[in-house]
Amino acid sequence: MPDDEQKRSYEDLEHEVARYRAVYDVMRALGGTLDLDELLDLIITRITEVMDADRSSLFLIDWEKKELWSKVAQGVRFMEIRFPMDLGLAGAVATSGEVLNIPDAYDDIRFNQDFDRKTGYRTRSVLCVPMTNKEGERIGVIQVLNKKSENPFDEEDQELLCALANQAAVAVENSQLYEDQKKSFISFVETLSTAMDARDPITAGHSSRVTLYSLAIAEELEYTEKQLAVLNAAALLHDIGKIGVPEVVLFKDGRLTDEEYKVIQTHALHSLNILDKIHFVREQKEIPMMSATHHERLDGSGYPLGLRGDDIPEAGRVIAVGDIFDAITSRRHYRDRMEFLKVLKILDEESEGSHIQPEFVNAFKQLPLSRIVKILEEDNSELVPEEDMLLFEKISLSTLQVLLEKEEDALSSEERNLVERFMCAYDRCEDVNRPDMD
Ligand SMILES: [Fe+2]
Repeated sequence: MPDDEQKRSYEDLEHEVARYRAVYDVMRALGGTLDLDELLDLIITRITEVMDADRSSLFLIDWEKKELWSKVAQGVRFMEIRFPMDLGLAGAVATSGEVLNIPDAYDDIRFNQDFDRKTGYRTRSVLCVPMTNKEGERIGVIQVLNKKSENPFDEEDQELLCALANQAAVAVENSQLYEDQKKSFISFVETLSTAMDARDPITAGHSSRVTLYSLAIAEELEYTEKQLAVLNAAALLHDIGKIGVPEVVLFKDGRLTDEEYKVIQTHALHSLNILDKIHFVREQKEIPMMSATHHERLDGSGYPLGLRGDDIPEAGRVIAVGDIFDAITSRRHYRDRMEFLKVLKILDEESEGSHIQPEFVNAFKQLPLSRIVKILEEDNSELVPEEDMLLFEKISLSTLQVLLEKEEDALSSEERNLVERFMCAYDRCEDVNRPDMD
């Protein structure tokens, strides 16, 4: 073989290897995340690199609405954009399933010039291919713009992008399936929790409030998104075992006898037994124990298992703080809502007495009053004047406690005003939460 021919075939081979490596890189990256926003972003970035293009877009087809949609990064968030399925070159590919390779977009009447007009961008070459899933169904379109080299996209680019688009289709569908499963799991958990709370109108909303307090504490403790999701489910289900407690005891109006109290306590073990029967995925396996240990105490005096300290799952210890706070700030069968300073003192006593974790009580007290009021008031937080809410945003629970512990004469007028506004919100919460007993 002559030298120059040999050189060319060597260069071709090198070029081929580089492409395969790029494809391998993209495919490996696609397997790296199940988060749809992240995945779409990743596909676009990698494909732009591999195709040596200036920019790329990925549109998914909403067959029901006959629309194309996409997520575009807006700072740290992703914003959804939608447009009719027959619009522009992407629309033409979505509708027909054909590949479009256009050297100059302005020569094609299907090209929608709006984007260029609005942004000042100048589209030249366009390669647009359908994304086809394993069943051969079209689920979206990938479009790459302005090949960086002088020549427009060629046949080889076309083949490569088609292969990548089909891989991307599989990754996107897996991610959508995963998101659907997550949604159906949490709606199942929420339904169980709401159904259980609905048994007793006086404790209505208890599980959801305990969940919100627990999540607020966990955010202060800098839990990850995944940890928050698991805690959310565990907290929503913490009292699920009350299903197994006879109504005559659960709804008794008046003080409970020791015997009845023991019956009520069985709910924690019921929670464990009920939840143990549910199949949880690996990262959720601890949910039954997290839920069932919300009455355990650090010194081992709690129930149902009498666990101590770190033997109690951390989420169980977090839920315990939310559970106690909700129990003493809600009206129960046998008493009205407690005075707020006393509420805070009980939290202190419980933490100093080695019942609940002091660090978690501290984290709870770092929360702004606005967050607490929103949970106390649930859907009625709009009843609290907006200016009061703005004030509450700047004051933590621990600061409020310092003010409440001061003699009234020692308060500045500003401090007195804050205390009065909070008490007004707290008292109104009592009215809002109090069920109509007629
Ligand atoms: Fe409980």
